[in-house]
Amino acid sequence: MSRRIGPPVQIAVALVAAAVVAVVAFLALAPGPAGRQQGKALVGGPFELVDQRGETVTDQDLRGRYALIYFGYTYCPDVCPTSLQTMSAAVDLLGSAGDRVQPVFITVDPARDTVEQMALYAANFHPRLLALTGTEAQVAGAAKAYRVYYQRVDDSASTEYLMDHTSLYYLMGPDGEYVTHFGHDVTAEEMAARIRDVIGAG
Ligand code: NI
Repeated sequence: MSRRIGPPVQIAVALVAAAVVAVVAFLALAPGPAGRQQGKALVGGPFELVDQRGETVTDQDLRGRYALIYFGYTYCPDVCPTSLQTMSAAVDLLGSAGDRVQPVFITVDPARDTVEQMALYAANFHPRLLALTGTEAQVAGAAKAYRVYYQRVDDSASTEYLMDHTSLYYLMGPDGEYVTHFGHDVTAEEMAARIRDVIGAG
């Protein structure tokens, strides 16, 4: 990712943006007073996108396995690469049970994240990572289904732009229902342990 790292101001903007997004996301998804799983009925739903091989992928294609889903963008200078490494490591830590978990990366920046760009980027992470892009409308639909916030942030000092975005991981069940989510600061070990609990792997 070093070739993507911009000037210091760009990194500073990204860090501040990531912090704001994390707080907003936490407030939006924190469990309610009675421990109600407020996200259960709210997160997830139909989407239609295109994977890094150019094949159409819908939410139905993820049925039958758990899906670990993260929204971000390939030009992200810091948070997304770390998150995708964490997600990939967690799936590997599960050993053979990891085969029951499909890691999924969905871009919030389809203008730059073409199918070709997603293929190049995904190759840096898990070999089974499904990297999804689409039209602006398709991406907006997927983000809405998962209650993911994203916003383009222009930087007058650069020709490139950043994207503010929710940085949570969502674990969806084989039935497509929301199971749980993880904050961006979760470790691979913590994530793997929680997933192991959920999927009942020994
Ligand atoms: Ni990011």
